[in-house]
Amino acid sequence: MWELNRLFSVDQIRQSFLDFFAERSSQIEPSASLIPVDPSILFTIAGMVPFKKMFLGLENKGYTRAASCQRCIRTNDLDNVGRTARHHTFFEMLGNFSFGDYFKPDAIRWGWEFITEVMKIDPARLWITIYTDDDEAYRIWKDEVGVSPGRIVRLGEEDNFWRMGETGPCGPCSEILIDLGEDRGCGKPTCAVGCDCDRFLELWNLVFTQYDCRADGMLSPLPMRNIDTGLGLERLASVIQGKDNNYEIDNILPIIEYTARLSNIRYKQDEASDVAWKVIADHVRAATFLISDGVFPANEGRGYVLRRLIRRAIQNGRKLGLKNLFLFQLVGVVVDLMKRAYPELVEKREHISQVVKSEEERFSETLEIGSAKVTELLDSLRAKNIDTIPGIEAFKLYDTYGFPLDLTREIAHDEDFKIDVAGFEQALAEQKTRARGATGFSHEEAENPEIYGTILTEIGPTEFLGYDNGSCRARLLRILHDNKEVSRLTEGQEGVLLLDRSPFYAESGGQRGDSGSLRGADSQVLITDVHKYGGGLFLHLGKVTHGIIDAGMDLTAEVDAGHRQATAVNHTATHLLQAALRKVLGNHIKQSGSLVTATRLRFDFTHPAALHERELKKVEELVNEWIRADSEVNVSETSYDEAVKSGALAFFGEKYDQVVRSVSVGEVSTELCGGTHCRRSGEIGLFKITSESGIAAGIRRIEGLAGYPAWQKSVEEEKILHGVSGLLGVSVHDLEEKVAKLLKEIKQKDKLLEELATRQALSAAGDLLDRVKPVNEVKCLMTIVEGVNAKQLRSVVDDLKNRLGSGLVLLFAPRDEGVAIVLGVTKDLTGRLNAGKLIAAAAQVLGGRGGGRPDFAQAGGKDKTKIPQAMEAVEELIKQS
Ligand code: ALA
Repeated sequence: MWELNRLFSVDQIRQSFLDFFAERSSQIEPSASLIPVDPSILFTIAGMVPFKKMFLGLENKGYTRAASCQRCIRTNDLDNVGRTARHHTFFEMLGNFSFGDYFKPDAIRWGWEFITEVMKIDPARLWITIYTDDDEAYRIWKDEVGVSPGRIVRLGEEDNFWRMGETGPCGPCSEILIDLGEDRGCGKPTCAVGCDCDRFLELWNLVFTQYDCRADGMLSPLPMRNIDTGLGLERLASVIQGKDNNYEIDNILPIIEYTARLSNIRYKQDEASDVAWKVIADHVRAATFLISDGVFPANEGRGYVLRRLIRRAIQNGRKLGLKNLFLFQLVGVVVDLMKRAYPELVEKREHISQVVKSEEERFSETLEIGSAKVTELLDSLRAKNIDTIPGIEAFKLYDTYGFPLDLTREIAHDEDFKIDVAGFEQALAEQKTRARGATGFSHEEAENPEIYGTILTEIGPTEFLGYDNGSCRARLLRILHDNKEVSRLTEGQEGVLLLDRSPFYAESGGQRGDSGSLRGADSQVLITDVHKYGGGLFLHLGKVTHGIIDAGMDLTAEVDAGHRQATAVNHTATHLLQAALRKVLGNHIKQSGSLVTATRLRFDFTHPAALHERELKKVEELVNEWIRADSEVNVSETSYDEAVKSGALAFFGEKYDQVVRSVSVGEVSTELCGGTHCRRSGEIGLFKITSESGIAAGIRRIEGLAGYPAWQKSVEEEKILHGVSGLLGVSVHDLEEKVAKLLKEIKQKDKLLEELATRQALSAAGDLLDRVKPVNEVKCLMTIVEGVNAKQLRSVVDDLKNRLGSGLVLLFAPRDEGVAIVLGVTKDLTGRLNAGKLIAAAAQVLGGRGGGRPDFAQAGGKDKTKIPQAMEAVEELIKQS
């Protein structure tokens, strides 16, 4: 009988794998980030990804054998997650690699040895697959390892040829599978190795990486023969630990157990909720590691995958009755389970759970508002006898409230409605087209792109000389006026001017365009802004202030140097701001947008929470410190790869040319940037943060001033301070204390006034005693009082009750809108009369509601004219008491 080795925890299995290959001279590499350096894939999907260049022979890390335990994300099996015993989005892959070193015989023998001798899995349960015509592998398995031929199965491309992606390293492979027994299978007569069900579990994939798949689909042989293997850690652990699915191994089950404590539904209670438990456990693991690697929830790219995973987990939580925020609590559980292998998680624990929490809050809000809107929509459709939700309506829910189509579909399904998905998709596509039209700028270029397209093909891109020159001679090639090409502009006319070369910076990368002038012998044009069309055609927007200009003329183009310098100051300050944010808050800070003008700057970046005052101060202080250090600003051109490798910050999601411009300020900042900058940081002079705010979940915005406007702002504020200190007659230094003192005095005076008003109300109330009349032997005072607030009203009632000794007081205080009602009953009568019940009767007459204790109750009513009837209703009840 096959004996399970139950001693192995996931941590121990991971370690024994790495030890096994370390003993076989392999370099043990730590897990790389889930975000690959390689732009051809979105996530790290296998252990070989960080070694891609080594396989292609493009890099030499100084070793030829390696092994790792690599964290991976795969989203292609998303729908299977939780439904099968073995699928995940996040998982760990154990792998050993050879770069032109050992090949098939060693890879196969070591694989077998580790599985059967170290992991002690019974060979009688193992199966082997090989690529159709790989006779070499067949021979090794049969002759060198001793696997019986009946256990070696030949499969085709789909199963036994592994590719990293559409392009990149690939090759035939051989897999080690374990037969988990008939009871784990699908029961179909065709069930065998290669079946999709859970019975024959693929444990280890050994890839003989011999080719590079090129973009045209051709396989070109690699310079060397390599080995790339992938052993699923969760799968292996589930076998070793004798579990019937991966979610019950020692580093996943506690997530389910913790979640189960938050819900009334138990794990293993029914199949549908078991899927939900597993989905949550998988997705929270994925989210934890994605956020730890710097991803934030967003509407596109990696951030979108993360957002979907978090939202799917929340939706599955709702199926288990978890309506409150719960997911963020699981982050700590994941961190505790994984911290031995990934110690970096510990310091990021708070950050990760905050990001999850804020996404959870955002989604809960979405769900709440969206569900109400769907219900409203369904009601109105029902009223019109329509049984299909129009696509445009589903789109509105999605677009306006962020309500996912899936959820609309779910609710619609529960309520027997259909949904026009095609209509939804059309509306979505139309919106995308509109959004494309809306980005960029909104003057003639947007209105008239065709004409610029034609011109660009005719005259080619404008040569930009502005990095080194503030002015140059240029030929005026074309003139546009009112969207039409003209040959001349006369004094007072405005137009768009196209030159062969230009010293003007055209708006891009968040930096506004330059201003300045174009001058001929007897003419002058004032340039107010410059935009760029199609990446290279500079559109100079200007007005003729003097003379006439004709197409074909040679002109002197001159940038307004002051404006340029003021913009440069703001731009360099923005780079320092980004560097300071990263230093103060951490390296997860990524630019998500910016605006740089001559008078202000704005910087949007990823960060989950509002910045504390002290963090803002620290950032501002650092930027100013670096300004005073007066470091040199260096601009260099290099290849994109080189720049990123040497640590330059690239704007995530932006496309860069192969040759990029890298701007560095001393040692503190290096960014890829096409903008114009000052020569030394000292030129900035001063930097002030003027505001910090949130613009979307996980995206913050800082606005600031640099240079002259920063100084000007502090001068203005100083002026205000002096003005106030003059008014209050104290020095600026003593202002704070003085204002605090004044505020305290005002508060005391307010209190005094309030007391006086109450006293007045009470003395007026004394007069009310004349109106007491007996009803069924109860002394009743029912009347209308004017000009008393709610608090005073209560005091008056208490006071009147005291004066009556025994009785009932019912006061109505009319307001602008409606009427406040207070009713008090002295203690001796509460056995007979219940203030709460009596007041409810009065309120009902007035169209309102209220309640309270047996001796005191308050209510609000709407219809003041019915006060007499309300009194009668109460009287009636007293009579019956
Ligand atoms: N790279 C191979 C896989 O992912 C080992 O299966």
